Amino acid sequence: MTPETTLMSARDSVQLVYQGKSFQMPLVRGTEGEVGVDISKLRQETGLVTLDPGYGNTGSCQSSITFIDGEKGILRYRGYPIEELAVQCDFLDVCYLLLYGELPTKDQLSKFANEVTHHTMLHENFGRFFGALPKDAHPMPVCAAAVAALTTFYQDAEGEDSIHQSVLRLIAKMPTLAAYSYKHSIGQPSIYPRNALDYCSNFLYMMFATPCEEYFVDPMFAKALDLLWILHADHEQNCSTSTVRMVGSSKANLYASISSGISALWGPLHGGANQQVIEMLESIAMTEGSADKFVQRAKDKNDTARLMGFGHRVYKSYDPRAKILKKACTDVLSRIGGNNQLLDIAMRLEELALHDEYFVSRKLYPNVDFYSGVIYKALGIPVNMFTVMFAIGRLPGWIAQWLEMRRDPQFRIGRPRQLYTGATQRAILPIEKRG
Ligand code: SDX
Repeated sequence: MTPETTLMSARDSVQLVYQGKSFQMPLVRGTEGEVGVDISKLRQETGLVTLDPGYGNTGSCQSSITFIDGEKGILRYRGYPIEELAVQCDFLDVCYLLLYGELPTKDQLSKFANEVTHHTMLHENFGRFFGALPKDAHPMPVCAAAVAALTTFYQDAEGEDSIHQSVLRLIAKMPTLAAYSYKHSIGQPSIYPRNALDYCSNFLYMMFATPCEEYFVDPMFAKALDLLWILHADHEQNCSTSTVRMVGSSKANLYASISSGISALWGPLHGGANQQVIEMLESIAMTEGSADKFVQRAKDKNDTARLMGFGHRVYKSYDPRAKILKKACTDVLSRIGGNNQLLDIAMRLEELALHDEYFVSRKLYPNVDFYSGVIYKALGIPVNMFTVMFAIGRLPGWIAQWLEMRRDPQFRIGRPRQLYTGATQRAILPIEKRG
């Protein structure tokens, strides 16, 4: 683990004047020049708390893992631009970078890949675990439950060495769990991982092979999946990552923390959006020329329709991941074939929205979920597995953030305050006098 980058202290402070008293609050500056007000002593010194629903203005932690500049559309993992990682690295390179802070040497990568490969199998009891669940269960709660269940098989999950083993087990077993949940949902036997295959090929093999015939993974499919997982690998303090940090801050173990992150990611406003995007595109495809109508509906306050895959809490310009994925869509579809109609509709929606005052004024641009589903569909991934794909990609980021939180010298349990707006003290009336 490289030494964490500590915040460079800024010379200035800000002054808060309250009830005739003045309070100085220190400013702290990150390595990219972001400045924050350190309010860690605010309540102790002033009796005040802050209010920031959705935490849009609140930094929960210091982190040296991922940097995003939402205005400029910049995304870097450990200082490396996503555009370069997407071309020059593979997913296990990026896993190693996020987890250990540096890109691996050839030997380090080979050792890491070998360790991951030899942890891909699941305990045989998982067959009965999946068998107990309804076949039509959505794979996200199945995966959340299965990851939490890993705690029951590996009960000693604390201590540096056990945590290292848990990290390897999670990275290795998540694709196996996902593929097993899919096979269960279609009534087919689970397919064991193959050590001879690389990480992405192994997942596609477990998803699509059957005991009846050999299945050869198309290297272009594996490469496309590898790119998708690199682009999803981390994204600083998003909803699911903040959930992983919060759960981990109570000293719940890594499996329990990751399981909570999977559940948070499932929400349609977060990772669940990639499934919603494809369903949106398919519904538009079924009614000729309704891209224009749909955009009007998405603007209408009285209509629940949203342009899924558009908008972002941090990116107020084009999500750099969406830019890479848009190009990848055309490349992948031209090479492996696939449904261009959905891509054409997505591009039409983008064209309309980027020239519409409603979206432009609100700085709503395509995000990572807008194009990813078109590629997943071309790879043959079932739509209800799209968010599971997101979870597999985000796993190294969740783990890296959890490790950073646990190793933070200022580590403490997360416990936000509130402003109480309920009833003030009152007496209990006997039941016959109520109502
Ligand atoms: C991810 O945080 C991360 O980093 C997340 C993520 C990651 O890698 O972890 O990037 C992954 O979750 C991407 C986002 C996927 N979700 C969607 O695509 C769902 C559709 N988008 C939204 O619901 C919305 O844009 C959010 C949830 C992404 C962001 O919500 P915010 O920041 O709370 O913004 P908001 O809901 O307050 O919207 C501001 C305005 C509102 O209009 P007004 O009240 O000002 O009139 O923009 C409108 C919203 O109604 N708006 C949209 C819209 N998104 C926002 N209107 C139509 N279509 C949309 N998609």
